[in-house]
Amino acid sequence: MKLCKAHHCKGKPTAIANRPKKIFLAPILQTSDNLIMFKNTHPTPPQVSPSQGGVCYLNGQFGPLADAKISVLDRGFIFGDAIYEVIPAYHGQFFKFDEHMARLERSLNEVFMIMPMTRLDFKAIFDRLLNENAAFHKLSPDLFSASIYLQISRGVAPRDHAIPNHLAPTVFVMCQPLPAVNLKMRENGVFCITSDDFRWKKAHIKSTSLLGSILAKELGTQKGAAETVMFRDGFLSEASSSNVWVVKNGSVIGTPTGPLVLEGIRYSVLTQLCSQLQIPLIFKPQSKEDVFHADELLLTSASKEILPITRLDDQVIGDARPGPIYHQLYAAYQNLKNS
Ligand SMILES: Cc1ncc(COP(=O)(O)O)c(C=O)c1O
Repeated sequence: MKLCKAHHCKGKPTAIANRPKKIFLAPILQTSDNLIMFKNTHPTPPQVSPSQGGVCYLNGQFGPLADAKISVLDRGFIFGDAIYEVIPAYHGQFFKFDEHMARLERSLNEVFMIMPMTRLDFKAIFDRLLNENAAFHKLSPDLFSASIYLQISRGVAPRDHAIPNHLAPTVFVMCQPLPAVNLKMRENGVFCITSDDFRWKKAHIKSTSLLGSILAKELGTQKGAAETVMFRDGFLSEASSSNVWVVKNGSVIGTPTGPLVLEGIRYSVLTQLCSQLQIPLIFKPQSKEDVFHADELLLTSASKEILPITRLDDQVIGDARPGPIYHQLYAAYQNLKNS
């Protein structure tokens, strides 16, 4: 048993010594008409400041993000029983809207949920949020680059693992500015670490149950890495929130799609760009050795677009500089975005 060495703990076991002195419990207030109310005494109540927030959509209504509220019994909150999408928009135009909607439908289908409204209804909500949030940030919509975050949870019900019938889903959409990809990261490439892929075996579902990805990302963050590249049974799956591509002898190699990876929308974007640039694109499993011996290594996601990895764990990738395939793909990606 470890003993705490701090003077005030006087050799108590560490776990006891480290126990918080004060537990912040919400006092129960008895009101005059016998209703029980909770007073929030949490030391830092989580809040979105109105200046960060902008306008969001929640269950049929538009309003300030700072004021949006859901039930604590929402299954998205209680179980992570929800599906999400992140859709970028450049200069007021959504990028690959139909592909994102198709993936949303696939994910909902996998968890026995249905689209709560049509693609066109979603488009109308996204357009309105794009316009209102551009105005909120004092920008004209055609100069506003933003990402739409859409989350559909199964809805509100008494806590029970069994999925209840006929729940009304909770539909939430917010719109945040999408910053340009960091110039230094693009010019120098990024450092990443590797880890075992300890997530579940349904990584193709874009679910908000992201604890596995969050813990993987944290392993990297603690070492100053931009991403954590994961391997399952010795083969490349993907990174915590990006897909990973190996470049070898002039070809781009991606992990085959299937239940163990999220099929990023950039799978179809890279297919389009590689065909346009006449770069062979192959999908086949890549061992750890293949990855470390890549000529170039790339990350893709909506927010990272295409980023070169130039160092992985303690090894340099290629010649430690973003390579020629990256430069070609990056330029073609920018053209596509702005077309
Ligand atoms: C696990 C995972 N893989 C890949 C991606 C990349 O997907 P996309 O290209 O659609 O952004 C993401 C994006 O969030 C992700 O979370």
